[in-house]
Amino acid sequence: MPLPRRYTLTQYLIEQRRRFPGASGDFNALLLDVALACKAIARSVAFGELGGVLGHPSADVATAVNVQGEQQKKLDVVSNEYFTQMTEWGGHLAGMASEEMDAPYQIAAPHQRGKYLLVFDPLDGSSNIDVNVTVGSIFSILRAPQEVIDSGRDVVEADFLQPGTRQLAAGYALYGPTTMLVLSVGNGVAGFTLDPNLGQFMLTHPDIQVPPDTQEFAINASNARFWEAPVKRYVDECLAGQTGPRGKDFNMRWIASMVAEAHRILMRGGVFMYPRDSKDPAKPGRLRLLYEANPIGFLMEQAGARVSTGREPLLGVAPTALHQRIGLIFGSRHEVERIERYHAEPSRTEEPVHPLFGERGLFRAEALS
Ligand code: F6P
Repeated sequence: MPLPRRYTLTQYLIEQRRRFPGASGDFNALLLDVALACKAIARSVAFGELGGVLGHPSADVATAVNVQGEQQKKLDVVSNEYFTQMTEWGGHLAGMASEEMDAPYQIAAPHQRGKYLLVFDPLDGSSNIDVNVTVGSIFSILRAPQEVIDSGRDVVEADFLQPGTRQLAAGYALYGPTTMLVLSVGNGVAGFTLDPNLGQFMLTHPDIQVPPDTQEFAINASNARFWEAPVKRYVDECLAGQTGPRGKDFNMRWIASMVAEAHRILMRGGVFMYPRDSKDPAKPGRLRLLYEANPIGFLMEQAGARVSTGREPLLGVAPTALHQRIGLIFGSRHEVERIERYHAEPSRTEEPVHPLFGERGLFRAEALS
């Protein structure tokens, strides 16, 4: 039986480059370095306890926190090192920023500096590492400001504060039952599965599209008391199912690895919400704009899905800080548009939603009085 004809990641990138006849190849070389870092992380994840990378990097758990004040795992630190070491040598980068590093990372001699900025979360969903649940790496590539390229100076935080619309490429690697790389270079979204025999990412999911309708949503419901009214309304209506205003049942999922939820949505549709809430007034959301929300947002838009803060399209948001957090809602277009509409209708969202007592319910308040 003939083998199915499959492209490797390298072949796919060469095909994509044909769209830019003047391109130097630096961009593709950088993406292949990122893919190499992801393969190395996949190996560490696969060895788990045997590789000695589970648990905290320091015996004193209290000191093992990252810039976000979150518990760091050994694998967070190891993954960050894979990203920096595999990408700094190639001469393509002006600098890097990561969830695990307080300040931008400088490309130092003997390495050459280049024209791109790499922003990444080396291990998303790391609370799942010790329980052997899917985690992943998320990355985004931006062009460095021209003055940085011309001068070759050290990068500073302000160089990275570019809206998501300016991303040149974004993607994630998923360390699950199979290792996958899902990527967009601005021309749709393609998924690659790591062939463990060849050690190559093979194109298995060309042109991923998110269906516009869905009956599946994902949210951490333990935060319900902190949600804003439009989010409460949306979730209440989904939970009311067939007997509620939506007239159909919804399913709910929560993996607590955003990258895995994003993958599910790219594969079969759905909505993900980690919205702005009142849990901690100092944090306007849980997820980070530059290396979590923006790259996933770029992929979603490239796959025909919609991405929002609830109030505005996410990719248009002008960042103000490297580690800024934001409320994030993405997924099947018609559902995200509905959630945005609820945000734009503040008066209606004040009304408690209940399938029997709501505006369209059987027992309207005035009818009972
Ligand atoms: O830090 C990011 C992250 O791990 C996401 O991958 C995930 O969606 C979220 O945090 C989980 O948060 P929580 O523990 O509040 O459900």
